[in-house]
Amino acid sequence: MERIRVGIIGCGYWGPNLIRTFIDLNDSEVVMVADLKKERLVKIVNNYPKILITDNFRDLFEQKLDAVVVVTPPSSHYSIAKDCLEHGLHTMVEKPLTLKSTHAEELIQLAEKKDLKLMVGHIFEYNAAVHALKDLVDKGDLGQIYYLDSARLNLGLFSRDLNVLWDLAPHDISILLYLLGKLPVAVSAHGTQCVFPGIHDVAYINMIFPDNIMAHIHVSWLDPCKVRRVTVVGSKKMAVYNDVESLEKIKIYDKGIDHPEYINNYGEFQFSYRYGDILIPNIRFTEPLKTECQHFLDCIKHNTKPCSCGEVGLNVVKVLEAAQKSLVNSGHMEELNW
Ligand SMILES: NC(=O)c1ccc[n+]([C@@H]2O[C@H](COP(=O)([O-])OP(=O)(O)OC[C@H]3O[C@@H](n4cnc5c(N)ncnc54)[C@H](O)[C@@H]3O)[C@@H](O)[C@H]2O)c1
Repeated sequence: MERIRVGIIGCGYWGPNLIRTFIDLNDSEVVMVADLKKERLVKIVNNYPKILITDNFRDLFEQKLDAVVVVTPPSSHYSIAKDCLEHGLHTMVEKPLTLKSTHAEELIQLAEKKDLKLMVGHIFEYNAAVHALKDLVDKGDLGQIYYLDSARLNLGLFSRDLNVLWDLAPHDISILLYLLGKLPVAVSAHGTQCVFPGIHDVAYINMIFPDNIMAHIHVSWLDPCKVRRVTVVGSKKMAVYNDVESLEKIKIYDKGIDHPEYINNYGEFQFSYRYGDILIPNIRFTEPLKTECQHFLDCIKHNTKPCSCGEVGLNVVKVLEAAQKSLVNSGHMEELNW
């Protein structure tokens, strides 16, 4: 098969990373880039003179493309992706897939009807450290999973169009759903609006999964430290994935509490705390964005369904919708019906 002809819509902060990645991959050719802002396009032609540019993404439809990547603000994902699918293009959309679950459902149906790939850029599902963590969970190395905790904190980047929940939490929600291979039954969220009234910049989300597994997510644009950490606590071991570490991304702690079967006699009931070794597995790390983009191309070439397909994107949007409802409703626990 000839190289897959790709168009990229949106070249603000994140778009240039996708442009670079698709240029570097042997299976694709970046034909045209669209952005509403001229100055962003000028930067692209300066770096890549062969790429065509336009301020109207519908010009991409004249270029005999195979696929597009939508890297615009989330409020525009639905309408742009819909237009692209209607024009027969395989479509990869940055996270979150859409801002409404009904919109995500519509895109899924449209892609199916047109026999096109619809993929969402859940980058952590293409991250070797997250794969290693999932392996530990799936093989039972951590034992029965008690709870998970995820934190994504930094100072900035503030958004004026959507809150921190929709900006950062898609990453954590996609990681947690992927790790557990389960969908939550309920979600609640609290948060605060410190800098811009009406836009939550700090949020705490609680999710309840089947088997009473609890998960907690803390996302913030207003924190002194850069934190990107997922902790999984099991009955046998505990694991921490620290994305800020360059090499030792995963640490497995042989820590826990051993206790005898419950005995109704205080004197005989004793815990023993286990402080065992810390194991740092060697992870063969490849750039997650490269793995993600290659996967999109492979799915097109081999006519297979993307791992982060439209349905996976929809699941995350449904959790976000419920969390948003709770956020503005004093943390009311929202049940999720799948
Ligand atoms: N996977 C990741 O780690 C990651 C990181 C950052 C951002 N993102 C996602 O990427 C997307 C873009 O985020 P960003 O930070 O680059 O935003 P941004 O605001 O920096 O860039 C968006 C660009 O889209 C352009 N645009 C808007 N509407 C357009 C239209 N109709 N046609 C053409 N161009 C249009 C804007 O002019 C802007 O240059 C978001 O969905 C965001 O969630 C993902």
